[in-house]
Amino acid sequence: PQIILVHSQNRSYSKLNQDDVNHFKGILNKPEVAVIEDLEGTGSSSELSGYNTDWLNKLKGNSKLALRPSSTEEVSQILKYCNSRQLAVVPQGGNTGLVGGSVPLDDEIVLSLNRMNNIIGFDKNYSILKTQAGVVLEKLIEYLEQFGYMPPVDLGARGSCHIGGNLATNAGGIKLLKYNSLHANTIGLTAVLPDGTILDNMRALRKDNTGYHLKHLFIGSEGTLGVITEAAILCPKIPAAHNVALFALDNFDKVEEVLRASKDYLSENLTAIEFFDSESNNILKDHTKHRNPLGYSHNYYMVVEVSNFDNTSTAEENTKIIEDKFFGLFEKISTVIEDGVIAQDSSQREAIWNCRERIVEGFFKEGMTFKYDFSLPIDKFPVFLDKIRDKLGDHARTGGYGHIGDGNIHVNASIKGYDNLKLFKELQKELEPWVFSLVEDYEGSISAEHGIGSFKAPYFELNKSNKMVSVMKQIKGVLDPNGIMNPHKLFD
Ligand code: FAD
Ligand code: MLT
Ligand code: ZN
Repeated sequence: PQIILVHSQNRSYSKLNQDDVNHFKGILNKPEVAVIEDLEGTGSSSELSGYNTDWLNKLKGNSKLALRPSSTEEVSQILKYCNSRQLAVVPQGGNTGLVGGSVPLDDEIVLSLNRMNNIIGFDKNYSILKTQAGVVLEKLIEYLEQFGYMPPVDLGARGSCHIGGNLATNAGGIKLLKYNSLHANTIGLTAVLPDGTILDNMRALRKDNTGYHLKHLFIGSEGTLGVITEAAILCPKIPAAHNVALFALDNFDKVEEVLRASKDYLSENLTAIEFFDSESNNILKDHTKHRNPLGYSHNYYMVVEVSNFDNTSTAEENTKIIEDKFFGLFEKISTVIEDGVIAQDSSQREAIWNCRERIVEGFFKEGMTFKYDFSLPIDKFPVFLDKIRDKLGDHARTGGYGHIGDGNIHVNASIKGYDNLKLFKELQKELEPWVFSLVEDYEGSISAEHGIGSFKAPYFELNKSNKMVSVMKQIKGVLDPNGIMNPHKLFD
């Protein structure tokens, strides 16, 4: 794929010079790996290109410098210097963000957390994980397994995204339905303010009602207020057993019926419920080797995960408990579904989950993609998708999928290939801001979980009251008066 959008901003930040680079080399441990520079713009550092390019290949920044600090103290020194010199900074985690928030739009310095990848420890008494921000989510999953615990968040980008990036975007993902958001589960955080002040809140007390809970300002702030360097996160037990089923349905009313039945009947044993439509399923078939065991003739598909939390049961008893749950659910929905399959082992579980999780890869391979991430009243999902399909006609393949259990629909629309930028831009004018106004009419959110970044920044104010935006801007002004943190993200 080609890079399709290059932002060039006319801003009043200082221009990076050799003295700045030398300063950073002087303050950072192991400067040979901590400072990646190409001040002359010779293209000699291909490594920099990765820091400049977003996951969707839509943005290509022009940063000449990526810094890779190894401690909170180093982050503090970097920011303090950048603030005094008026140098703009983009915090970057695993760079898997989908809204153009994690890369420079111009020549901002990239502050990567990828060397801050130490897990601090796990408190078994209170099931609290303490970690540096640059640890990859999958590494945390593997680490916690030895204690029988898991992070409260999980998502398809687990192999690359950092927990710090998850916090900075308040990432949702497939477990939110059961285990709630990172706002709910984060009980400690260290953040560094643009002037270098370290806000250390790592005591990680379950109960601490002493004033404003400042940590929440940084969760979901998309790198616009400071840099998250450490976190303490409450972790749930790994269920004693779990299994997954895939259902096929012929209309959306039936999807809603299965959702209601699953919530009612499975109650706390329901740990995930997801959906995807036929176009998303076809996209999966056309661009991945993965195959849907229920085929391609149905209008909707749902993935339902059931867990059992009783650790006193034997493995056989657990299997039986889960089986009974699914058979009970089947009884309730047997006249509603067209087809269904229950995984028989862990590889089938993975195969069912892949049907849902690899859709993102399918759309990406189809071509340039409009990627929307909305919260909407569930009954509006089909009409909403139809309206977008009507707008785009045959120019794009449009599909809907997502976290139906918490009202979050991902709408993806891909044009063929990556070389028709003109068409993409024409369609973008048709879609935006129209689609965001439609979300507002339906009283939804223009970002359920991916954040605002730079792609949605121009439309952010459509979806929030003036008063709320005004308070947010005041907070930004207090914490980052020079506006060095992630410029043009969140606020246009
Ligand atoms: P980055 O992409 O590097 O950064 C994201 C934002 O956070 C940027 O604004 C950046 O400046 C800021 N940031 C990063 N680290 C810090 C820090 N330490 N301090 C301050 N600011 C920081 N999202 C969901 O919510 N749910 C999903 O189910 C989901 N699935 C995904 C599946 C795939 C295949 C992909 C590619 C993405 C998916 N995402 C999902 C998008 C999601 O935002 C990210 O995967 C993840 O949360 C971002 O983490 P990251 O470390 O890659 O952050
Ligand atoms: C997902 O739920 O698969 C992710 O949020 C990524 C996407 O929206 O494509
Ligand atoms: Zn998602």
